Amino acid sequence: MLRSDTWIVGDDETAIEHRVALRSSGLEVDGEGGRPVIGIANSASELNPCNLPLRDLLPALREGVRSAGGVPVEFPVISLGEDLMKPSAMLYRNLLAIEIEEMLRSHPLDGILLLANCDKTVPGALMGAASADLPALVVTGGARPPASFRGRRIGTGTDLWRLWDERRAHLLDDDAWHEAEDALACGLGACNTMGTASTMAVLAEILGFVLPGTGTIPAGDDRAPLAGQAAGRRIVEMVRTGVRPSAVCDAASLRNALRVLNAIGGSTNAVIHLAAIAGRLGLAFELDDVDRLGRQIPLLVDVEPSGKGLVQDFDAAGGVPTLVRSLGGLLEEASLLADGRSIGDLAGVAPEPNGVVRAVSDPLSSGGAFRVVRGSLAPDGAVVKSSAASPELLHHRGRAVVFHGYEDMRRRVEDRALDVDETSVLVLRGCGPVGTPGMPEWGMIPLPSKLLEKGVRDMVRITDARMSGTSFGTVFLHVAPEAAVGGPLALVEDGDLVEVDADGGRIDLLVDEVELERRRAAWRRPVPVHLRGWPALYQAHVTQAPQGCDLDFLEAPSPEHRRFVEPVVGRS
Ligand code: FES
Repeated sequence: MLRSDTWIVGDDETAIEHRVALRSSGLEVDGEGGRPVIGIANSASELNPCNLPLRDLLPALREGVRSAGGVPVEFPVISLGEDLMKPSAMLYRNLLAIEIEEMLRSHPLDGILLLANCDKTVPGALMGAASADLPALVVTGGARPPASFRGRRIGTGTDLWRLWDERRAHLLDDDAWHEAEDALACGLGACNTMGTASTMAVLAEILGFVLPGTGTIPAGDDRAPLAGQAAGRRIVEMVRTGVRPSAVCDAASLRNALRVLNAIGGSTNAVIHLAAIAGRLGLAFELDDVDRLGRQIPLLVDVEPSGKGLVQDFDAAGGVPTLVRSLGGLLEEASLLADGRSIGDLAGVAPEPNGVVRAVSDPLSSGGAFRVVRGSLAPDGAVVKSSAASPELLHHRGRAVVFHGYEDMRRRVEDRALDVDETSVLVLRGCGPVGTPGMPEWGMIPLPSKLLEKGVRDMVRITDARMSGTSFGTVFLHVAPEAAVGGPLALVEDGDLVEVDADGGRIDLLVDEVELERRRAAWRRPVPVHLRGWPALYQAHVTQAPQGCDLDFLEAPSPEHRRFVEPVVGRS
């Protein structure tokens, strides 16, 4: 018996009430039941241009569901747009996950198609689906077209950050700057570099939530409706055969996701999202695995910011299937994918490495794209994307210049009197999950303008914030515990010596323990900003970055606890 039949089969007043409600919305249900009701969680919104292409996929999704004998039912969910939502869409990722879980729990739905694209929408969808543990597929909206600026093809995100540095170094005049703005308004879809959105779309294929080969189809591509129809048919099949996330996404899937994250030089944000997804599934997640597993993985995908191409080039090379084939035995081949095949099955039929997907024998670099560091400055760890950093800065000792939050940082990096040189270590604190709250992507601290003018293009930066997946530079992120809860980052003062050693796994504040104890005793927890509603709930319950920044009461303590309790289906 289908879950939805509990609502709609029968001849009493509640079954009739439920059927009347569904039929009034135009849905074809009757008292016999037996037709899977498939939710389509639509996060398209004009406040989020990254997700707007999802709107055009609705007819194909409905057609796919109907052709397989299912009943499609669309409903809206919050749309987390990275560009406009402040202080950060990350503050609302867990809210989206709750919304999806609770919409599934409280309605007569047998399976779900989750329409997601921009950075936090894919992980929020995956977290909600993992907690609901009903058959689920994610359908992505694809990357937006490349921009063209003064004869150059440029990506969104990564190239804007580079152009901004040129602007601040007085290398870009007013005309060029406004031309860049027009160029970057180049259409709908997700960022077309390997930012968080593209990274999570790729990883969702590996985790078994996106049909193989469809996660990187660009926005507006002719293949997108066909992929939507296929997803519609497949979700009905998954309901009929009882394929739940817990049967597809296991510990091996998560390990494979970490390996692929390294192979694509993907977003540092994915480390946090994978930890959160693991927490929803009741699976262990060790931050050190990002480094340990990654060191065996070569960087194979030549896409910005770790490489030169765009996501469109990755898709043209065959996308995830080609990468899976290239990685071959470096992945655990028994892991299942969304179409029921295994990683090994896919590797056997996928295109050979070509274009921006390199062969293992010809990598962009080897030894992994990330390093996890620990030490007196980050006892619970921090992450650096070494593939997008300056190799000569990955082992560095310098004097700290400390910024106390975003506004202090933006003001003082422009101050010509700032006591800083290229050997300094820029420290930004107070921007972690509790601190802001929401852990915004402020971590790629702008270089002081007087150093930019001298031609400096990278420095060591340390922060408890995140940075955009489209960002680059030698930035040690996600320092845990964060400053706002009394982590050692809170104790750093201007002029302190700080040492980082990415390959050695160290990040240390070189101040003697007596002095640190004095500072610790004087430290006071920041007076909380008066918060109410969701931000207050978030701040009271959010976990630190290595645990995924989920709310503590949403984690599953074990696989047995991951699924929601079914509601009583009676009179409303
Ligand atoms: Fe939405 Fe980059 S801002 S995907």
